[in-house]
Amino acid sequence: MIPETFIQDLLNRIDIVNVIDKSVPLKKVGANYAACCPFHNEKSPSFTVSATKQFYHCFGCGAHGTAVGFLMEYHGLSFVEGIQELAKMAGMIVPQEERSTNSESYQAAKLTVVGLQESLQQATEYYKAELKQSQRAIDYLKGRGLSGKIAAKFQIGYAPAGWQNLQAIFRQYDNEVLTTAGLVITNEKGKRYDRFRDRIMFPIHDQKGQVIGFGGRVINPEDTPKYYNSPETPLFQKGHELYGLFLARRAIRDGGRALVVEGYMDVVALAQYDIHYAVAALGTATTPFHIAKLMRQTDEIVFCFDGDNAGRTAAWRAAMNALPALIDGLKLTFMFLPQGHDPDSYVREFGKENLEAEMKMATPLSAYIIDHLCEDNALQSQEDKVKFLNDAEPILHQMQAPRLSIMLRKRVSELAGVTGQELQDVMRLSSPNKPPTRASQKQLRTPQSIKKRFALSLLMKPSLANADDLTWLQGNAEEDYLVRNVLEIALQQPQSNPAVLLRGLENKIDERLLREVQRDLHMLDESLDIALEFNGARTQLRDMMQSGSSAILLNRANEKPISALTEHEREQLVNAVKKLKR
Ligand code: CTP
Ligand code: MN
Repeated sequence: MIPETFIQDLLNRIDIVNVIDKSVPLKKVGANYAACCPFHNEKSPSFTVSATKQFYHCFGCGAHGTAVGFLMEYHGLSFVEGIQELAKMAGMIVPQEERSTNSESYQAAKLTVVGLQESLQQATEYYKAELKQSQRAIDYLKGRGLSGKIAAKFQIGYAPAGWQNLQAIFRQYDNEVLTTAGLVITNEKGKRYDRFRDRIMFPIHDQKGQVIGFGGRVINPEDTPKYYNSPETPLFQKGHELYGLFLARRAIRDGGRALVVEGYMDVVALAQYDIHYAVAALGTATTPFHIAKLMRQTDEIVFCFDGDNAGRTAAWRAAMNALPALIDGLKLTFMFLPQGHDPDSYVREFGKENLEAEMKMATPLSAYIIDHLCEDNALQSQEDKVKFLNDAEPILHQMQAPRLSIMLRKRVSELAGVTGQELQDVMRLSSPNKPPTRASQKQLRTPQSIKKRFALSLLMKPSLANADDLTWLQGNAEEDYLVRNVLEIALQQPQSNPAVLLRGLENKIDERLLREVQRDLHMLDESLDIALEFNGARTQLRDMMQSGSSAILLNRANEKPISALTEHEREQLVNAVKKLKR
């Protein structure tokens, strides 16, 4: 445990510009520093580092964070390793905190996580060693054309047949940690046995390269199920992880694209054929999380599906899941392999060049959507066209990227024989020129966001905080908690930088709001006169709070007719208006 005060001290002392500049050379541009983003592929720099805020932020892919965050993301360090690295740069020694009794549960939780990681790592080593011992498993992998080099690269192993083999490496076979890690199962009678038996083992790594789960494939074709995965554990959530991403990260960034396939063996076989940028969803449909994760590495994603019906269904689901994550500038394409092929068999039969040529001709998302909507629709009768519009409507509603949206709307209206305006009216689509991001900017000017401005300017300049303000700040909305917590932390640490202050707010206010604040902070114009902003917000906020609930009531009266207010509310409103007139 590193004491929190040390972390704060350290983060106040180092300069994020120096930290990042060591790995990604920065250029000074105005008040900020900039570079081409190391987290996605781009040609003009949208990665900025702010010395005043002590944050980095990429306007292209949305990557953002603090100095430690950068070391974690870019160099794959853990938080503690990141802190140690920073301490080295600052010439400080990391102290260790005595274990305090009141944080016993915290310690226990931490021990469990460490225990989970360690047991999964040990199991990986064990399965790898067992593979060397089993001629049958080796023959199976050889039979599928895998080289020893690739098997080693992916840390492929073998779980031998038998019920309690893991007893050989875990002295405490009945330790709960093994169940939580998904390595051991307890049946109704309380008997414990290994989850994976007589299977080829594929370790699944997180982005730091730590093993968080396994997929196991049968050798004997009669055994079922063919693939068996770790259950969801505190370390492993299927819908969030991608098989092979850790190993593929470099190649994805260098090549500027990621290939998403369906199976473990596909990823491994492609790597053997020198295609190192492939990843697989873990037996689930691709989720928006997957897409968001990949978007942080690249702006081109190719989905590859088998040419059969199952492949088609999976492709459509992936397309629909991608909609909320879409941004302009992201290229999503879909390719379908010939009947009877998966990427594994395809690359073996036709080779890398052919597969990459197919990838170049893959169908862009918008064309794929249109093709799919027209598939069983002749678009001849009025009824056909109405059905087409009905099918397209939810898709158009979900698309947030303005330019993509315009293109798709245009095509839909052409095919349905209506004008763009008619389409917009009948579907009640918002004007594509005013994407929702603008709407949220507009919100910044509503009375509520005065609270945010108050908080943001204090985060930028905590020395402006005034203890008197604690007496009149009130309210129970999330933003009210934000304002009070920011004020308190600013009073405690008037010399801290925004990154340190934001860290102190973690677990104190709603996570979503915190992320919003972080984003607003990134966007905040550095040339603003913060003291002026703060005083303005403070005066307005105090007026608002001191005129009591009047502002809230006036707001509500705007939303519903006066007749809909309760007797009591009406009385309050009358008083409030009187007060305002005075
Ligand atoms: N899968 C799974 N559970 C199953 C079947 C499949 O989790 N019971 C997942 C696995 O990630 C698997 C992928 O779906 O890799 C694709 O399955 P499938 O097409 O059936 O197998 P292949 O990847 O072609 O595997 P192999 O080549 O080993 O037969
Ligand atoms: Mn296969």
